[in-house]
Amino acid sequence: MTLYEAKKREKQIGISASFVHFDAFQEELDFEITFNVVVSNFSFHYDFGNDSTIKTAINNVSKHLVPGGFFLVTVPSASTIMTYKKDGKLKNKLFETSFMEKDSNGYIFKIIDTMELGCIEYFIDKKKLVETLKANKMQVVYTQNFFDFIISRASLDQTCEA
Ligand SMILES: C[S@@+](CC[C@H](N)C(=O)[O-])C[C@H]1O[C@@H](n2cnc3c(N)ncnc32)[C@H](O)[C@@H]1O
Repeated sequence: MTLYEAKKREKQIGISASFVHFDAFQEELDFEITFNVVVSNFSFHYDFGNDSTIKTAINNVSKHLVPGGFFLVTVPSASTIMTYKKDGKLKNKLFETSFMEKDSNGYIFKIIDTMELGCIEYFIDKKKLVETLKANKMQVVYTQNFFDFIISRASLDQTCEA
């Protein structure tokens, strides 16, 4: 998302937010503040291109969390994408996905009529994730498939409304 779009949404939603432009996977950040929760939606997987960017990304999160704080992350599901690949569902009129060379852990995702070249996305390497979290005194405490999460929330919300 561009800063322009973020500022537009800030006004639309009616909240007060601060925005900082940086490369969270290559720059060592220090905002001199810690948070109870750090959130990354469909962005964290981009650092899985190499070990250095994984380390920098997790270190940047870790140093901005209070002890016992939470890092909430959503990333594309490798197993869902591989199932779509097997079933020949890697494109429709809105998007297309193509795979890179055989041993690469990346694929190219393109939104039709919006992204001319598409962008490289990476699968999460769970072993490297756990190792790097551990090196930063962090651990995985909960994982859930995104669709299942949305469906479980939807049924909870319906229960609340009833
Ligand atoms: C698929 S978009 C998701 C945007 C938004 N979080 C959402 O859920 O709609 C991926 C986002 O990752 C961000 N991103 C990718 N690489 C980044 C990097 N090295 N440092 C900071 N942000 C990055 C992009 O700027 C983009 O906003």
